[in-house]
Amino acid sequence: MMNRWHVVKRLLPLLAVMALLLSACGREDLSTLNPQGPVAEEQFGLMKLSISIMVLVVVVVFAIAIYVLIRFRRRPGDKTIPVQVEGNHKLEIIWTVIPLVLLVILGVPTIQSVFGLAKDYSKDENAVQIKVTAHQYWWEFDYPQYGVKTAQEMIIPTNAVISIEAKTADVIHSFWIPSLAGKIDTNPGGNVNRMYFEAPKSGVYLGKCAELCGPSHAYMDFKVKAVDEASFERWVAGMKAPAEMPSDPEIAELFASQCLTCHAVGDKGGTIYPNLTGMGDRLAVAGFLINTDDPQYKNEGTVYDNLVRWIADPQEVKPGNNMPKVDLTQQEIEAIAKYLSEQKLDY
Ligand code: CUA
Repeated sequence: MMNRWHVVKRLLPLLAVMALLLSACGREDLSTLNPQGPVAEEQFGLMKLSISIMVLVVVVVFAIAIYVLIRFRRRPGDKTIPVQVEGNHKLEIIWTVIPLVLLVILGVPTIQSVFGLAKDYSKDENAVQIKVTAHQYWWEFDYPQYGVKTAQEMIIPTNAVISIEAKTADVIHSFWIPSLAGKIDTNPGGNVNRMYFEAPKSGVYLGKCAELCGPSHAYMDFKVKAVDEASFERWVAGMKAPAEMPSDPEIAELFASQCLTCHAVGDKGGTIYPNLTGMGDRLAVAGFLINTDDPQYKNEGTVYDNLVRWIADPQEVKPGNNMPKVDLTQQEIEAIAKYLSEQKLDY
């Protein structure tokens, strides 16, 4: 008895640390327990149902076990053998039928949801089609119906079904927006996975890569911004408008030679690296450096501060990413950051 208590006492600090770690999951809502759309609500419903059944089973089994332990304990001097119930038909039927009924209660809605949520909207004209490509360590969002491509921030209208087709450009990642829908993996080898969700309430929802994909996996965040239909149309128009280049010809030249060889802004530049159109009203730089002037967030700054930090040393910010250190002076970096931070779509 003494020994066992010692083990428990030693484990207590470990358990406390684990509880703390599990509860300290950042300032943004990464919880599936606070659903913000019909798909997430349905999934949350299944969680509630299964947890209720499990709690019921645990409570009943423990209550019976404790009752039996006390009621039928061996009393001092009692040498009799209790009634033997092995092979008792009545008891065996009871403990076979009850779990069977519970499994049916759990199984029917689960299977219904699994097939319901697998519905394919990829050919639906009324759904907003978004092709998601995961890269180490950023997200590409392609809107084929609108001829628009962006990165890191998925803008969606609140009044439509969003149909996702997800693939990867390199290793396995997992696309996950906890408050809107479950996750889907992006598998190497040309495989495409589909899902859909809706976000009827306008707002910003945090997305995460949920599959260990390299040293910067933990920084592979993205945002989903749900806006009303008119804002969405304005955003699309802004994305398609001709790009405005830096007014200083020297900076424009540097920007073209150092950045646009890979990145795109509006109709100019490369297409395979994160699109930078409308950087000025993005919520984050590099997907996870939150743009804020709130001094509470010590590691982050305004969009300008974050851009300067990122361009100066991308490997320091997000180790292992594919952006090379650019050949620019601090002054030139600041000028390019200033230009990018002023590019707003105002949607
Ligand atoms: Cu991509 Cu983890």
